[in-house]
Amino acid sequence: MAAAVAARLLRQAPRRLQVPKTSPLAALSFPLPRTALLAAASVRRQRFCAAAQASAPAPSAAAAATGTAGKAVGEFRKRLRVADVKGGEDEGAAWVGKELAVRGWVRTCRAQRTVTFVEVNDGSCLSNMQCVLTPDTEGYDQIDSVTTGASILVEGVVASSQGGKQKVELKVSKITVIGKSDPTSFPIQKKRASREFLRTVAHLRPRTNTFGAVARVRNALAYATHKFFQDNGFVWVSSPIITASDCEGAGEQFYVTTLLSNSAEGGSLLKDIPATKDGRVDWSQDFFCKPAFLTVSGQLNGETYASALSDIYTFGPTFRAENSNTSRHLAEFWMIEPELAFADLNDDMACATAYLQYVVKYILENCKEDMDFFNTWVEKGIIDRLHDVVEKNFVHLSYTDAVELLLGSKKTFEFPVKWGLDLQSEHERYITEVAFGGRPVIIRDYPKEIKAFYMRQNDDGKTVAAMDLLVPRVGELIGGSQREERLDHLEARLDEQNLSKESYWWYLDLRRYGSVPHAGFGLGFERLVQFATGIDNIRDAIPFPRVPGSAEF
Ligand code: 4AD
Ligand code: MG
Repeated sequence: MAAAVAARLLRQAPRRLQVPKTSPLAALSFPLPRTALLAAASVRRQRFCAAAQASAPAPSAAAAATGTAGKAVGEFRKRLRVADVKGGEDEGAAWVGKELAVRGWVRTCRAQRTVTFVEVNDGSCLSNMQCVLTPDTEGYDQIDSVTTGASILVEGVVASSQGGKQKVELKVSKITVIGKSDPTSFPIQKKRASREFLRTVAHLRPRTNTFGAVARVRNALAYATHKFFQDNGFVWVSSPIITASDCEGAGEQFYVTTLLSNSAEGGSLLKDIPATKDGRVDWSQDFFCKPAFLTVSGQLNGETYASALSDIYTFGPTFRAENSNTSRHLAEFWMIEPELAFADLNDDMACATAYLQYVVKYILENCKEDMDFFNTWVEKGIIDRLHDVVEKNFVHLSYTDAVELLLGSKKTFEFPVKWGLDLQSEHERYITEVAFGGRPVIIRDYPKEIKAFYMRQNDDGKTVAAMDLLVPRVGELIGGSQREERLDHLEARLDEQNLSKESYWWYLDLRRYGSVPHAGFGLGFERLVQFATGIDNIRDAIPFPRVPGSAEF
């Protein structure tokens, strides 16, 4: 039964959603007027994460005419990194015979009878530079300080490497220890440390292969995000982090207050917190003269700018005080929220599909070394899985069809399945992982009772024009909707949900003055990083995770 429903829905998969045909990636060039050496290095480096290089701006015609174009930029980035040397197709072969200085951190130091091998990593890529020292190397007397974690400067000449692991190595003429690292206490030793352990040393974990690769891919995803929206005419809007409204109406907000004095020794006394006559906190005496919170979403503010600039996006931190100790929830996470004016739910789904396919394609093309690493060590087959995401249509089905599919599956779920109840993570994962074999699935038209007040009511009176995009392993990656643009409908929804119309006055104004159909979505950036790298736990997809009971670092 479930298989039959899945097959039917697959046949109905939309034809209008396509991967953008003209990828601007194909046309990437590096017009920055650096030294010839650096320009060549930038191009070679594409095999690794080339996000930074790709963003280099072209010099203006006026600046070029004066002959000073970009001089300061060239001066600023004189230093080569390991990725500049080893990142090309030839893996550094063209550098043989050239002089090079590498600054980085020691991964390992192996002393053999006549030579010592030091693996140095500078974070520009996964690869280390293998450095070969002999007792004649200047500075060799400091070799006892060349231990795992120490920072060093090595200068020498690039040579072909005899070892099979790399094409080139550095024959070192001079070594300088910049910062020592006590080998007896440095927590990240060569043996593989568990991710749980590494969370307890989050300040040092970016020095491991896994966390270095996650950081680079995360960066490339952020770059590709801006590039996608900018290339498609969206304007980036900074939504506020402190807000007085609750976008999702779920009451999962952190208060922002100065009523609690941090100057009082040991914190404020309860008796000093201003209170109203009925014993509640008197917010009128607080900094903003009313309750204020960290935002759960930039959407409502985003809508105001979409109602003037047409297409906008936000990309910033959001906060939720939900007590969820899961591998998919953070208390502080980054969200990308596009908002499209003159658009309906179908346009919204098309945008979400194109965006996801674009950023996934971007990392497959630009972060090859890191993606190969994830494919080997983190999730076998992730590269094929991501290629499928880019190349195949996403499945579309209605919430009603999804419920039918789950009921027909005969699988025993922990949470009940019934029309009107929200889908749980186990249901979402069944749909995308089992029923549709790993394809991303967009579910639309949810019951209005389980969705936020701002979603547009469908004509059936029971559902709203909402959509969730589900992906394997992660479940819900994107949540979005067409917004209720009709003032009377929106006011009625606020009343139904016991939300105050007064406090949403400015949001309602958008429906009073030139209201237009509009739609948008929110994508949890860390869930995207999880999806794109295969990392199981969301706490490993952000540099410094904030979760219940933990805000170290
Ligand atoms: O589905 P959500 O709650 O939607 C909104 O906030 C809308 N205002 C978005 C919009 O339409 N502009 O959250 C959007 C996404 C989720 O799909 C999920 O990927 C992520 O944000 N998310 C979280 N990620 C990490 N930790 C959490 N606690 C998250 N809560 C939501
Ligand atoms: Mg949601």
